[in-house]
Amino acid sequence: MTQIAPTSLTLRRPDDWHVHLRDGPMLAAVVPYTARQFARAIVMPNLAAPVVTAADAAGYRARIEAALPAGSNFTPLMTAYLTDGTEAADLLRGHANGVLTAAKLYPAHATTNSAHGVTDIFTLMPVLEAMAGTGMPLLVHGEVTDAEVDIFDREAVFIDRVLAPLVARLPELKVVFEHITTQQAVDFVDAAPATVAATITPQHLHLNRNALFAGGLQPHVYCLPVVKREQHRLALRRAAVSGSPKYFLGTDTAPHARSAKEAACGCAGIFNAPYALESYAAVFEEEGRIDRLEGFASEHGPRFYGLPLNEGRVTLERVSQQVPAELPAGEVLVPFHAGETLGWQLRV
Ligand code: DOR
Ligand code: ZN
Repeated sequence: MTQIAPTSLTLRRPDDWHVHLRDGPMLAAVVPYTARQFARAIVMPNLAAPVVTAADAAGYRARIEAALPAGSNFTPLMTAYLTDGTEAADLLRGHANGVLTAAKLYPAHATTNSAHGVTDIFTLMPVLEAMAGTGMPLLVHGEVTDAEVDIFDREAVFIDRVLAPLVARLPELKVVFEHITTQQAVDFVDAAPATVAATITPQHLHLNRNALFAGGLQPHVYCLPVVKREQHRLALRRAAVSGSPKYFLGTDTAPHARSAKEAACGCAGIFNAPYALESYAAVFEEEGRIDRLEGFASEHGPRFYGLPLNEGRVTLERVSQQVPAELPAGEVLVPFHAGETLGWQLRV
């Protein structure tokens, strides 16, 4: 059967369930890109001074709203950064009054600005039980930080040591396993109760670990968790296009100035916000499942979080576009797919 490729695709307006918007001038530079592509986004709390309390989140939300382009109807959904000292009462109050959508677990030292992260998740059981009781999701950066564990194994070891025991102890807690990168994560999420879901980034669908070293060290494809072997990329692709409501869009867009990426100790993070939907569309089309992009991008996330679906629509047109080598955003930022051609173009 011959299929005629569509020349445009209209979708319910999508959301991004995992973004880093930063603060100050960088916030002002990057938030328009996310606000153009998405109706809502879950905003990560790993600022240099992390967003720990509901009051911190309210202040950060106000700064994000002030940085939005005029006329934008983008809604930032805020998160609190769990620490060993997090108070359940503050989280629950913040959740009840609409300031906090979720709480984020960074194992201490797992990634950028995570020095204040949790040293032992099981000491936070009273907080997690309170969250389970009110349906407040726990968002997890799923890597152990044990220096003896190979960096390519840190996600799989985290599942065995932390996530599987946690879900067994508290199956009613809603958990989003963020930016999954491995076959083991897909297997875990598939087998877990419906309270467990996962986000998948564009880079983990496009790249395997060869990309880090292709023709020389490639700082702009370095992120955490680091991209893995090809077998893992293929498992993530199957999960993303499977139609399972457990998988949804979360870009993990994580801008760092070009000078901070191209450095002797380069920062982890890929700035994928400007062409995020086009990047996902390429994957779904390559997999022959462009029909499932809307569920992944616009339906599964809100259903998991218990939020309404967006009413607006966006259109992707089959028009090739060349991704620029860099974007002048106050700081110079190198976008994901820099220098490549993408086959779709978002019209909003
Ligand atoms: O690559 C990453 N960058 N992974 C993270 O978990 C944090 C992020 C950042 O904030 O730069
Ligand atoms: Zn992140």
